[in-house]
Amino acid sequence: MKNLSQWSSNLGFILASAGSAIGLGAVWKFPYMAGNYGGGAFLFIFIIFTLLVGLPLLLSEFILGRHGKTYSTNIFGKVSGKKSFNIIGWLGNITVFVLFSFYSVIGGWIILYIIRTLLDIVGLTHSHNYGLIFTDYIANPLYAMASQFAFILFTVFIVSKGVEKGIEKASKIMMPLLFISFVIIIIRSITLDGALEGIEYFLKPKVSDLSSEGVLYALGQSFFALSLGTCGMMTYASYLDKKTNIVKSANAIVWMNILVSVAAGLAIFPAIFAFGLEPNQGPGLLFIILPQVFDQMFLGQLFYLLFLVLFLFAAITSSISLLELNISNITKNDNKNRKKWSYIIGSLVFIFGIPSALSNGLLQHFTFGVGSFFDNMDFLVSNILMPIGAFGVTIFVGHIFNKDTIMKELNLSNTRLGRSFVDTWYFLVKFVLPIIIIAVFIGQLL
Ligand code: PFF
Repeated sequence: MKNLSQWSSNLGFILASAGSAIGLGAVWKFPYMAGNYGGGAFLFIFIIFTLLVGLPLLLSEFILGRHGKTYSTNIFGKVSGKKSFNIIGWLGNITVFVLFSFYSVIGGWIILYIIRTLLDIVGLTHSHNYGLIFTDYIANPLYAMASQFAFILFTVFIVSKGVEKGIEKASKIMMPLLFISFVIIIIRSITLDGALEGIEYFLKPKVSDLSSEGVLYALGQSFFALSLGTCGMMTYASYLDKKTNIVKSANAIVWMNILVSVAAGLAIFPAIFAFGLEPNQGPGLLFIILPQVFDQMFLGQLFYLLFLVLFLFAAITSSISLLELNISNITKNDNKNRKKWSYIIGSLVFIFGIPSALSNGLLQHFTFGVGSFFDNMDFLVSNILMPIGAFGVTIFVGHIFNKDTIMKELNLSNTRLGRSFVDTWYFLVKFVLPIIIIAVFIGQLL
């Protein structure tokens, strides 16, 4: 059995947290959000939120996690003596459970596309009408549920065996490869005829394109993509020793995340405009556009297959952290029952996720709130639960948690630069972040 009580190295921690962060959020969700909510304007506000809100929050979770050294439904009470604050941890557990239920649907789509591309390579399927392929595959209830099941099973298997360490090592190779494959796609995408319009759409912010809804979604996206507001990053940091420089780690993760999001946008938007398509195609965007870009390349299907495998890997390193959070709480970090609980939680996630899997087919006309069942789950998680969780963390770190302990954890006060960094960060967490989160909420209500 594994013992996750300590990362074997600093790099292990960075790789695991970067693995948790970089996944469907940056690659799949960001482009379709940007396509729905104003292109360049969305990118701009997303970057602002990621740096101004996301980075300080990530650092807060790291500090709290490393200091508290326990699972998230216990940590707030442990470090403050006030048990009622553990509610933030409980909320995070509900959030990741719901999140995993629809995350696995998209994870399943990647598996379906891997199978389809394999069939294409060996000549068993020939259709290249990707809009139609998407609806055909995704609308099929059996395909949608079976692939979701497979994705959950993969995750459960890894978490139950405790082979995350191997996964982290693999991500040292897979993540850079994913990035390189993006560079290749970008080169192809921006050299397509008519691509310029797409580059402009994505990189040139037009303030008039931004709605209050877009601002809310951008904040939600910055939380989603950095795994914030769920106590997931806190949990990873609780397995950390004192030596690691958490400020550097948080910075690295945030910038990697921005880089991958921008890369995904640059791969997709030029192609959308070159093909004369619309950017607001919703969750299917990546799955409809990218294969068309690969079709324009030498050995395109092979490269597409490689890309999908890397993409699946990135999604799995995130889903591991989703499940790990629930398991660490249920087992109270005791590995004895880890296997049993991994399978139980995995099964519950699957059952709860079925309506999300069917949202693009059988249940597509069953809409309420912001759209399909899937859309509502995503909205609930990204735009309500994660911001509430994040709000709880800022209030806790800024107003409840002992300031001296924080300063010791940060260990930066010996230089002037370090001191001004810490002061700025503390001011942001104590006053600015709570106000921004509330303001974005109220802006949306109005
Ligand atoms: N950050 C992940 C992604 O962008 O794919 C999703 C995620 C993982 C959110 C873990 C929250 C979490 F606790």
